[in-house]
Amino acid sequence: MADRTTRLDYLKAMGIDVWISRNPVPDEEKPPVIEQPAPPVPNAVLTSAEPRPSIALSEAESWDLLQSEVAQCRKCSLCESRTQTVFGSGNRQTEWMIIGEAPGQQEDLQGQPFVGNAGALLTEMLRAIGLGREEVYIANILKCRPPGNRDPKPEEAASCRDYLNRQLALIRPKIILAVGRIAAQTLLATDEPLARLRGKIHTLNGIPLVVVYHPAYLLRNLPDKKKAWADLQFALQTYRDIKG
Ligand code: URA
Repeated sequence: MADRTTRLDYLKAMGIDVWISRNPVPDEEKPPVIEQPAPPVPNAVLTSAEPRPSIALSEAESWDLLQSEVAQCRKCSLCESRTQTVFGSGNRQTEWMIIGEAPGQQEDLQGQPFVGNAGALLTEMLRAIGLGREEVYIANILKCRPPGNRDPKPEEAASCRDYLNRQLALIRPKIILAVGRIAAQTLLATDEPLARLRGKIHTLNGIPLVVVYHPAYLLRNLPDKKKAWADLQFALQTYRDIKG
């Protein structure tokens, strides 16, 4: 990974556009393709008027580039207070993508999504529909912890959105679970309450999306666990219907 990342850094420094196919072919099926051979760069600096050479990235390179961009991100002020970014984790070949709101304290410390108490409950919720964490991919709308776990600001979510869109484009899941009100409202660009968003099939980037309760909410409101169970069953049924 270090080698690939270094290569990508070199290419970017040389003014060569690296671009990511919308339908990347898994690496094991196809070697990296040079879409348009990059001519030798005549000068260290390319002016914006000159055509920029471009190179297609393999799927693994696209992940590496994205991960290194996130790790270095300074697009919003959350970079000042974070311990580290929380990129996302899990199975990149999965059909299930789980999207939460933002890292909390434990996630910020460990660099992994959903590893605190809410994470333990999320793991149980997934298990309840037969999914192990290693079978799904989990990411958040924000890659950095908002101080004091406050709600993400719209401009923070907007700054981070490209990263999530690129994760979605690389994974191409069959179904998305939006975890909690904030994730659902942000992803669906709506201010409808959770009660109106649950139990319906929405779409995000053409992918079916189902809204479930946030485990942190369920830890505070145990009676709603029954409704959470219904949400999970609905998500599972939606997935089965998609698969036919
Ligand atoms: N809550 C979230 O929404 N995401 C996490 O990663 C942890 C808690």
